[in-house]
Amino acid sequence: MTEEGVTLYRGLREVYIDRTTSSFINGKEGKLYYRGYSIDDLAQNCGFEEISYLVMMGELPTASELEAFSKELKSNMGLPQEIVDLITIVKDAHPMDVLRTAISALAGFDSEVDDNSSEATLRKGTKLTAQAPTIVAAHSRIRQGLDPITPDPKLSIAANFLYMLFGTVPDPEDAKLIDKDFVLHAEHGLNASAFGARVAASTQADLHCAVTTGIAVLKGPSHGGAAESVMTMSLEIGDESKAEQYIKDTLDGGGRIMGFGHRVYKAVDPRSLHLQDDLKALGERKGEPKWYSILQKVLEAMQPYARKGICQNVDFFSGAMYFLLDIPEDLFISIFAMGRIPGWTAQVVEQFDNNILLRPRLQYVGELDRKFIQISDR
Ligand code: CMC
Repeated sequence: MTEEGVTLYRGLREVYIDRTTSSFINGKEGKLYYRGYSIDDLAQNCGFEEISYLVMMGELPTASELEAFSKELKSNMGLPQEIVDLITIVKDAHPMDVLRTAISALAGFDSEVDDNSSEATLRKGTKLTAQAPTIVAAHSRIRQGLDPITPDPKLSIAANFLYMLFGTVPDPEDAKLIDKDFVLHAEHGLNASAFGARVAASTQADLHCAVTTGIAVLKGPSHGGAAESVMTMSLEIGDESKAEQYIKDTLDGGGRIMGFGHRVYKAVDPRSLHLQDDLKALGERKGEPKWYSILQKVLEAMQPYARKGICQNVDFFSGAMYFLLDIPEDLFISIFAMGRIPGWTAQVVEQFDNNILLRPRLQYVGELDRKFIQISDR
């Protein structure tokens, strides 16, 4: 007899596994809070350094705390030459695979790697937050046959990312958009990658293992990969006049519209609203308003689905924004990953603080007591 009378929670939908103070999503009303502060206040007033501090340390920093924290981030942006060499070896892999590999290898260069105390975990999370953009930018250049660029300590993490990618100090407006994008991605409840990171931490594996897991889980198109898919969709649509038919054909064919829907939000993802006007302004500034217009038409075509709780999510506008900033499409998910390291770190600290092995069950529905046959007789 197999296991009967078991209640299955497929996809762990609506299952609560622990308590958190890191972030809260009110999915019905489309609201998001980091450490109790509304994303609307944070996105309008704070930079990524300040948000990283808030998410990881739990409080908004004072001016002197932020200065010290920014200094710590900047002093950690460099990479050991061995990591640059490793990136060169795996340069033909997808940028997320390269990021995952490099973060994993950085464990070999951190003297605190096995220290799972909150203090050491936060120090390691700060370092990885600083190093991830350097890895992604270095990889992007190495695969083009260019030398990696040393980070400029005068620039923010976001501005440095664009600087290290393109080799010129970015337009402050462009850097501000990447900065806001990082802010909007910093933390987001028990999404699949945070869950993966927590599962790793629940076995008492260290932060490098947890972040490596988080990056691996984020890579899929159902989670971090949607921004790239939205841009692919926009390129396929090509013109706003074709958007409605494209959406109809996709849905009639049983497909999904990327950048729509969310496991928790049944209203508009508030993060998407913060990128909407920015994308419009960016398109006008770059003389390419068409991508915003196409997305507006997609939004209109998807309006009937909003009533069913399928609304635009954070990835809906971000892909076109990266595209207009000339960022290669296969780097889009890595930008999400760079922004999310503070959130993974905060949740790993929470997991360690009140640890319990995350080990759910599977209902066995196969046969039992099958007659064993020797290999020579099969
Ligand atoms: N387009 C069309 N229909 C959809 C979509 C979509 N994007 N998303 C969900 N649905 C429908 C789905 O077909 C199903 O309909 P029915 O009940 O008739 O079969 C219903 O909505 C529920 O879908 P589900 O797959 O059970 O919902 P889920 O909570 O498991 O899926 C999701 C969440 C994000 C995987 C899904 O909405 C999706 O695939 N969206 C497209 C990918 C995407 O934009 N991902 C980025 C998410 S936001 C970034 C992040 O935080 O990770």
